[in-house]
Amino acid sequence: MTETQTRPERKALPDEAAGAEASKVLKVALLGCGTVGSQVARILLEDGDALAARSGARLELAGIAVRSLDSKRDVDLPRELLTDDAEALVDSADLVVELMGGIEPARSLILRAIRKGASVVTGNKALLAQDGPALFEEADRNNAELSFEAAVAGAIPIIRPIRESLSGDRITRVLGIVNGTTNYILDQMDTTGAAFADALAEAQRLGYAEADPTADVEGHDAAAKAALLATLAFHTPVSLDDVRCQGIANVTAEDIAAAKESGFVIKLLAIAELVRTGDGGAATEGTSVRVHPTLLPREHPLAAVRGAYNAVFVEAENAGQLMFYGAGAGGRPTASAVMGDLVSTARRAVAGAPGRTDTATRRLPMVGVEGIFTSYSIGLEVADQPGVLSRVASVFAEHGVSIEAMRQTLEGGAPGSGTGRAELRFVTHRATEQALAETVADIKNLDAVESVTSVLRVEGV
Ligand code: NDP
Ligand code: HSE
Repeated sequence: MTETQTRPERKALPDEAAGAEASKVLKVALLGCGTVGSQVARILLEDGDALAARSGARLELAGIAVRSLDSKRDVDLPRELLTDDAEALVDSADLVVELMGGIEPARSLILRAIRKGASVVTGNKALLAQDGPALFEEADRNNAELSFEAAVAGAIPIIRPIRESLSGDRITRVLGIVNGTTNYILDQMDTTGAAFADALAEAQRLGYAEADPTADVEGHDAAAKAALLATLAFHTPVSLDDVRCQGIANVTAEDIAAAKESGFVIKLLAIAELVRTGDGGAATEGTSVRVHPTLLPREHPLAAVRGAYNAVFVEAENAGQLMFYGAGAGGRPTASAVMGDLVSTARRAVAGAPGRTDTATRRLPMVGVEGIFTSYSIGLEVADQPGVLSRVASVFAEHGVSIEAMRQTLEGGAPGSGTGRAELRFVTHRATEQALAETVADIKNLDAVESVTSVLRVEGV
């Protein structure tokens, strides 16, 4: 630039003070004031100007519906905002944030909002995994928006990247740690040797667990998230019933110790993948969605996901491998995701734009156990007698399941005397779940086998 040239005058950036001038007001109804809802209320009350500058409208907290007006709250809130009449609150609002959880009355209240044209933000994966398609259709019909970034992996932006940033690519696989409670429990068991019950109690105290932690421990919470991720990633409806699900209740301290000794860590993984079945011209595409405890090599990036943190791996044909990592649960992190949805919903409302649609564009078949190949780790308690190992190995061979590695630990008795016991741990090459199930059933029937102590999938080898 020469000295004679003058710089164009800089346009002043709209700053947070400009938010105070926003002429449009959008009334926000908050349904629920628990771990997440109370943090959303705090942000709405504390950051009004900044939120107004970013969304183009003042987001006025019209009220907060709760079950009990007298419960102690995590944050100080004007008492007059609380109400036990959720329906009247919804009727008075432009935008609704549902953070009650559970199916009813959340479902009816969301429908009530949508039917009057009010957009809704929710973190309710249980409801969406059960009734998502019907709710999205109703939102489309009423030109309302239903956003749910907080429903999967807490603070991590994962819904928007899959739904928008990757909408021009072909996602082939999503692999994630999407439940903070179970990751916290498994991590505590692995690193401190904590007992399962103590680790769960601490996860509850820290606000990670669902109101009924069975949904976390049994894998149902992760399964609901897996269904949502698969629906968006593969553009096909996937419901909770389509997800094969196994929780962590049967993962023992012995499993964790054995995994550790062999250089593995156990994580509850949600896996959604496109699967090709059949050959050549007869090949068809389907999808498999499952949640189960999984052995991962300690050097795998997901193995480094500690505490209540979540991470989601996405593999897409053109983008390659992407990893999203962050806080997967807790009031403030989850409130961040809710607020992101709320601001972008408000922007669209200000612009008079129609709600975004999530309609699936195709219907892929779910692939059954015969089409899924995985490696397995199998633990057995056997009598320490000559020939036992070869009898067990021959059962693997009969079912075409190839053994990659085996480790034996002797417990008591003179070796091979028939008085002691041995623990055998096998790692297989990739096999179908069906072949593995038949192998395990036949191994259980061998006289020398006292019990099958664990059957865990292995990924990342
Ligand atoms: P909480 O159990 O902490 O809070 C639920 C709130 O909803 C409470 O304020 C409760 O009122 C209110 N509520 C429940 N039932 C009713 C009812 N029938 N009528 C009126 N109010 C009702 O839940 P969270 O904040 O933990 O979770 C909220 C949602 O966010 C859930 O869908 C959850 O799955 C999801 N989520 C939670 C995360 C987390 O880390 N906690 C992370 C990601 C998503 P009262 O206080 O009076 O009992
Ligand atoms: N209970 C859930 C978890 C909260 O532990 O991940 C976040 O969805």
